Amino acid sequence: MVPKRNSWAEPYKIKMVELLKMTTPEQRKKALAEAGYNTFLLKSEDVYIDLLTDSGTNAMSDDQWSGMMHGDEAYAGSKNYYNLEKAVAEVYGYPYLIPTHQGRGAENILSQIMIKAGDIVPGNMYFTTTRLHQELAGGIFHDVIIDEAHDSTSDFPFKGNVDLNKLDKLVEEFGAEKIPYLCVAVTVNLAGGQPVSMANLKEVRKYTEKKGIKVMLDMTRIAENAFFIQQKEEGYRLKTIAEIVKEICSLTDGATFSGKKDALVNIGGFLALRDEGIFEEARNMVVVYEGLHTYGGMAGRDMEAMAIGIHESVQDEHMKARIGQVFYLGDKMREFGVPIVKPIGGHGIFVDAKQFLPHLSQDEFPAQTLAAEIYLDAGIRTMERGIVSAGRKSNGENHYPKLELVRFTVPRRVYTQAHMDVIAESTARVYERRNSIKGLKMIYEPKYLRFFQARFEQI
Ligand code: F0G
Repeated sequence: MVPKRNSWAEPYKIKMVELLKMTTPEQRKKALAEAGYNTFLLKSEDVYIDLLTDSGTNAMSDDQWSGMMHGDEAYAGSKNYYNLEKAVAEVYGYPYLIPTHQGRGAENILSQIMIKAGDIVPGNMYFTTTRLHQELAGGIFHDVIIDEAHDSTSDFPFKGNVDLNKLDKLVEEFGAEKIPYLCVAVTVNLAGGQPVSMANLKEVRKYTEKKGIKVMLDMTRIAENAFFIQQKEEGYRLKTIAEIVKEICSLTDGATFSGKKDALVNIGGFLALRDEGIFEEARNMVVVYEGLHTYGGMAGRDMEAMAIGIHESVQDEHMKARIGQVFYLGDKMREFGVPIVKPIGGHGIFVDAKQFLPHLSQDEFPAQTLAAEIYLDAGIRTMERGIVSAGRKSNGENHYPKLELVRFTVPRRVYTQAHMDVIAESTARVYERRNSIKGLKMIYEPKYLRFFQARFEQI
């Protein structure tokens, strides 16, 4: 009998490979201690499968590489800038473009232009760099994501949604004039890559229009969000990813973008706008922090690769394989009983460290500990997304996020299905010996974004 074919497969084949180094358990023990039990401080050379992030770690296509050869490295008016501007207008529908070196460059400019000291900036869960730039500009961040997002066991399909009651409460309390914009992230990173529904985005648009509040999108993983809308939301099954992406953008006033994720490049980002006045201000500010407004911190060749990557990112076959691979890994982990955030999100598998290591208190950094143990087992590098990433409040107290997660982030078009098997098997081995795992204590804490450089010791 012919099996019913429903598996995903890559819409590409491999032309060049990068050789990996295998390490011994002794080598990994030493490397981890030298890195202060922080996976960010490991040398990439000492890593076998690198799931630290999907940011800038994607494999470019032959078209993108050939685009690199068409780099016009003129200081002003590079043709690649105009190609990127055209791609952003065609795929996302934003008329005004400010290129930046990566996403946080755009966040800095947007925050500085729009936010005044004491302003309230609501968002559907925080992202580390985004919130920091809002705070550095004098803003006060308020989380307005639905409660389900903070519950790793909730199966709600659109856990990225904005809770309009929470938003309305802020408007009632502070007044709309205190809110420069609502920041909406698509596939919410720290919730586990959880999507926002189109219905929610429409309601948000309706409400904010009524109140005169702008909506700024963090569209870093917009094509992945569009995939979930296509698969799960009524009325979208027959729409293409490209159509859904355009519709999402149409409900917003502008966007910040890290090209290092969806757009399949290693570096780059932008701020995109509809309002000519804000654009003029941003165009002036980009020359202070990034570079001239026709390159903003990117080489011409990088802008070209990003323009091509943007088009590739909204192909249905690409997204089906991309998310198919993430689901494959998640399903495997579940088979082994590993507790993961439900439902599986877009860019990786998020393991629930509180459930994995229930004997550790949050002050013993369960997710940081688990990421270290996962590295020790087979050289797989993951990332903490819990109390360390959440940082401190303005009064110096730790944030205690409900979610204490280890992110197994899957780079796009980089690893194979056999790699996914190895990852799940290694995690299962660590799960088997979970009761013997001890926590960590922090021995060095930097002032900003501490998760990048903090150091730990075993208790
Ligand atoms: N917004 C989101 C949702 C992100 O995930 C990131 C980066 C940024 C903004 C900032 O962009 O790195 O280009 O400056 N996330 C990476 C990650 C670092 O690993 O999740 P950037």
